Amino acid sequence: MQDGRTTLSKFLIDTLDRQPSPVAATGLSALLIDVAAAIKTISSALTRGALGGNYGSAQTVNTHGEEQKKLDVATNEIFVQHCEWDGLLAAMVSEEMESVYAIPSAYPRGDYLLAFDPLDGSSNIDINGVVGSIFSVLRCKDGEAGEAGFLRPGHEQVAAGYAIYGPSTMLVLSVGNGTHGFTLERDVGNFVLTHSDIRIPEETSEFAINASNERFWEAPVRRYVQECKDGRTGCRGRDFNMRWIASMVAEVHRILMRGGVFMYPRDFKTPSMPGRLRLLYEANPMSFLVEQAGGASSTGRERILDVTPNALHERVPVILGSRKEVERIARYHRDFD
Ligand code: AHG
Ligand code: MN
Ligand code: MN
Ligand code: MN
Repeated sequence: MQDGRTTLSKFLIDTLDRQPSPVAATGLSALLIDVAAAIKTISSALTRGALGGNYGSAQTVNTHGEEQKKLDVATNEIFVQHCEWDGLLAAMVSEEMESVYAIPSAYPRGDYLLAFDPLDGSSNIDINGVVGSIFSVLRCKDGEAGEAGFLRPGHEQVAAGYAIYGPSTMLVLSVGNGTHGFTLERDVGNFVLTHSDIRIPEETSEFAINASNERFWEAPVRRYVQECKDGRTGCRGRDFNMRWIASMVAEVHRILMRGGVFMYPRDFKTPSMPGRLRLLYEANPMSFLVEQAGGASSTGRERILDVTPNALHERVPVILGSRKEVERIARYHRDFD
């Protein structure tokens, strides 16, 4: 751009389409522009708040047994409508759709797979709190656009990102060359690069966990959190701060901006569930972004990006953020196992 600013499209064209081997990324920049268009539409709908008539329950339940909010359903539809027509996708998966969404035959089929959480932090909608959207892009292998096509480890992602709908709307994105943040210039409609090559500090004095679940935690997590709470008189020798926004997007964004560690670990609250967050469209894309920013992401027992999913809506324990803290928590898991 003439004014020296980098828009999302300029960034994508420079990063993907002008690479030595453009074939490798054919269509990816256009797909990400469509995802960004969905995000702008969602941002606009959210900005209207209660005036948009979108608050409250949809009176339906999703595949996780969660009551869907009207905005869970509406934002899912916005993602589908913006991304199904462009000939770049073979299929989609969403938190709000039970099975794989095949591209309708009226549209051409492409060779990417999109998994998304259209609205993260649903419980914040009606209190006008921060919410987000999360997405993950895989390349469709051997034409496999059914469930099996999506059951790939997260290190195979070719792009991942989230939108945060806060006082400003931001898109944070990685196509495998670092993690970059774009701020929506609302009156113009452009995403402008404002946070280039985000780096997560290796150490931190801030942690995020839903402490109301403490009685269900495993011993290594109890130990870590207790040591943080012991503060400067304990073995860590410094005071820690705690935050919980109840939106993974908001927690991860804070960690990308100033460091920290986020945990939704395995617990014994619901013994059949290995964790709360979903691998394909929450844990994997966030882990990709965090690793690309120099942080780490683990289940406590293995790198999240190396987990091979067995089901579309599989859940996984998540511990991510500042590298040294995540390594410490993983070490505590090894000590107790
Ligand atoms: P979603 O709104 O997409 O279902 O995800 C909510 C998730 C995640 O964003 C957040 O970290 C967590 O649920 C909040 O859990 P609590 O209700 O235990 O605070
Ligand atoms: Mn939900
Ligand atoms: Mn979510
Ligand atoms: Mn959601």
